[in-house]
Amino acid sequence: MNIPPINLKAQFRGVKKDIMKGVREILDDQKLILGQYCLKLEEQAASTTGVPHAISCANGTDALILSLMALGIGRGDEVITTPYTFFSSASSIALVGARPVFADIQESDMNIDPAKIEKAITPQTKAIMVVHLFGKICDMKRITAIGQKYAIPIVEDMAQALGARRGNVSAGNFGDIAATSFYPTKNLGGIGEGGMVLTKRDDLGEKVRKLRVHGMGDKPYIHEMIGFNSRLDEIKAMALSVKFPKLTSWNKTRLETAGYYNMHLRDIPVTLPTIEDETSHIFHHYVLRTDKRDGFQAHLKENGIMTGIYYPVPLHLQPCFSYLGYDEGSFPIAEKAARTSLAIPVFPELKKTEKDYIIKTIRLFFESQVERPATDDI
Ligand SMILES: Cc1ncc(COP(=O)(O)O)c(C=O)c1O
Repeated sequence: MNIPPINLKAQFRGVKKDIMKGVREILDDQKLILGQYCLKLEEQAASTTGVPHAISCANGTDALILSLMALGIGRGDEVITTPYTFFSSASSIALVGARPVFADIQESDMNIDPAKIEKAITPQTKAIMVVHLFGKICDMKRITAIGQKYAIPIVEDMAQALGARRGNVSAGNFGDIAATSFYPTKNLGGIGEGGMVLTKRDDLGEKVRKLRVHGMGDKPYIHEMIGFNSRLDEIKAMALSVKFPKLTSWNKTRLETAGYYNMHLRDIPVTLPTIEDETSHIFHHYVLRTDKRDGFQAHLKENGIMTGIYYPVPLHLQPCFSYLGYDEGSFPIAEKAARTSLAIPVFPELKKTEKDYIIKTIRLFFESQVERPATDDI
């Protein structure tokens, strides 16, 4: 068998007819940027998450930058975030001129540890950026309490968690402002780059709408602030809005697959992701942890199963962040996660036969690691 890490072609087959119809319509109309489909996508995001202001933009990294800019964060400021995430969570902080300050993750779910956030706060701390890693919502009860205690706004990087909920509260509602990505491999992936800012605060929503179009308000060519160009194309917005109604069932299928893996792998010596409830983890990635990660990955590859390492080098050890002065050992839990994590396929189109093959192949690897008795003992 050959199992890819994600099967975008299979997903596209299910929506191709509607997307191709939309492409023709948009090209005939020649309304190409920030038109009716962007509005529709923004409405869908607002109604799915319950966050009133949903503002589409060019990609998830821009969405983070726009969020930080709207909060007025810049030179001399510090923003606390996790060292174990995709690069943009921290690069966006540096790109607005502020300093990323890392706080280690917790062993249980690899999300930022609230206790470590509190220890990292200084008078310069101007925001806390949480990342709902792999689709699992952070411990927002404790983190929002810290935000309130110190009057520090919270930015949610929900690039991997669109549609995740804790109780009735969807990702995007916990903080002051949130950013998501529609990169093609995301749970709601586009036909190119795309992103969105979500906020319940009217003041921030208004600012982001201006910042994404060069800081222009209602009056054309009058620039109220120095923004940049981060508009979304209509064709991309249309494709996302065709896929949007399927997001909930895709997320549910991912969760079911995760439950299936957990059930069939529970007795082998790997750390499995925990499933606390039905909604707070949407399994953008299903990540196992084992000290034998590299050999395990090679075994899966030899047997046709493609996997991913998210992320091989934690951000505090990235060459570009050496100026921050962190070292090996600064964040031991993140470093261990980077050494031991492996994401196996969990995309919604995965067939049962493929899941069973993945389980069988994983079990084979760990069974072959068990020390066999010497032949003389038999
Ligand atoms: C956690 C996280 N933050 C930010 C981003 C950036 O999104 P984009 O690639 O759309 O710029 C991504 C996705 O790539 C991500 O996974």
